Amino acid sequence: MNNLAERDRAVIWHPFTQMQTAPLPVPIVRGEGSVLYGADGREFLDIISSWWVNLHGHAHPHIARRVSEQLTTLEHVIFAGFTHQPAVELAERLLAILPPNQAKVFYSDNGSTAVEVALKMAFQYWHNIGQPRRKVVAFENAYHGDTFGAMAVGGRSAFTAPFAPFLFDVDYLPVPIAGQEESVLKQAEALFTDEVAAFIVEPLVQGAGGMVMYEPGPLDALFKLARQQGTLLIADEVMTGFGRTGQLFASHYLTEKPDLMCLSKGLTGGTMALGVTTCTQAIYDEFLSSDKLRTLFHGHSFTANPVACAASLASMDLLLLDETRAAIQRIGQKHSTFARQLATHSTVENIRQRGTLLAFDLKADDQTSYFNTIRDVANDFLISRNVLMRPLGNVLYLMPPYCTTDEQLDYTYQQIIDLLQMI
Ligand SMILES: Cc1ncc(COP(=O)(O)O)c(C=O)c1O
Repeated sequence: MNNLAERDRAVIWHPFTQMQTAPLPVPIVRGEGSVLYGADGREFLDIISSWWVNLHGHAHPHIARRVSEQLTTLEHVIFAGFTHQPAVELAERLLAILPPNQAKVFYSDNGSTAVEVALKMAFQYWHNIGQPRRKVVAFENAYHGDTFGAMAVGGRSAFTAPFAPFLFDVDYLPVPIAGQEESVLKQAEALFTDEVAAFIVEPLVQGAGGMVMYEPGPLDALFKLARQQGTLLIADEVMTGFGRTGQLFASHYLTEKPDLMCLSKGLTGGTMALGVTTCTQAIYDEFLSSDKLRTLFHGHSFTANPVACAASLASMDLLLLDETRAAIQRIGQKHSTFARQLATHSTVENIRQRGTLLAFDLKADDQTSYFNTIRDVANDFLISRNVLMRPLGNVLYLMPPYCTTDEQLDYTYQQIIDLLQMI
């Protein structure tokens, strides 16, 4: 039992994995730039940024240095009644780049907890002002995380079926993709009443739901409609944040700014777990009182962990460099050129792009299922060519770290073309 993969199988239960049928996991020993190095000497191009978290490449020396300094200075401190430089500086720097109506930063551990906090802030806001609202509107097919509140506001699917009786009711709107805008708006007119506490969305790109993309215009229209009823608008930018969509945040494409925002994943450049929920001053003010019962009673042991905050500050140093902005543009342009090439292939449909995110559907017999076999064929083929893409059902997508070179992108595009010629 010296082999790491076999030792793993003996003791570990992996996420989103059917442990009976899954092949043994691939041991990775090192990462650098966009490449992961396997224990057996194989290399993998990490074209999906390891579950959409990595921005600047693996084991980035600038982030490593800041993290290491922080580890030997202050590794952690309780965040109730105490504070520290990295948490304060990160909040200041985040607020400087978020939409200007965001005023306060609440720390947690990951994307799901960032969503839980946003939902609790929204429900308690209405509770605190003495006009309790119970309803939430979300998009069909949404994914906001795997904790119970986050699952409740996500689309119902095979993934949530065992928990359905325990999830609170949510009213769903179809996503206003091209051609559907008018009908979605009509349905929204009936749905948005003064009973709706919050409307939660993944702005412009629904990630786990299959990289579904829609335009800022219809989202602005929906936000406007919801806001007329006082409904709080939650932008879950856990995936779209930090440059993925071409702008620093997808909300920057919108005229109507969200009241609450959820951030994680790229927040630390993909180095470690950290979550952030931000809100407007108006929401924050409704929790201020001499009455302790108006407090937001929420927190985690590792809230605002200084090491994670230091990683995030270092990642932000890199994110705001001119060369990173240029890289984001360069990747977007390369994707656009490749998208035109893809359009000539008859086995491909629904090609879509927003910034560094490029997605398309492989024509499959059962197109709707995450479990269809074309997914496994594509995944196995790409892995055999040393490209880590992990398709979502029949949806193939690229979300590379910003340090990915032109050569690495060209190599990936060529493997995709080879795949298309094979299937
Ligand atoms: C939009 C969105 N929200 C929330 C989450 C949950 O984040 P985490 O996996 O860190 O809990 C994800 C994860 O993929 C996501 O894409």
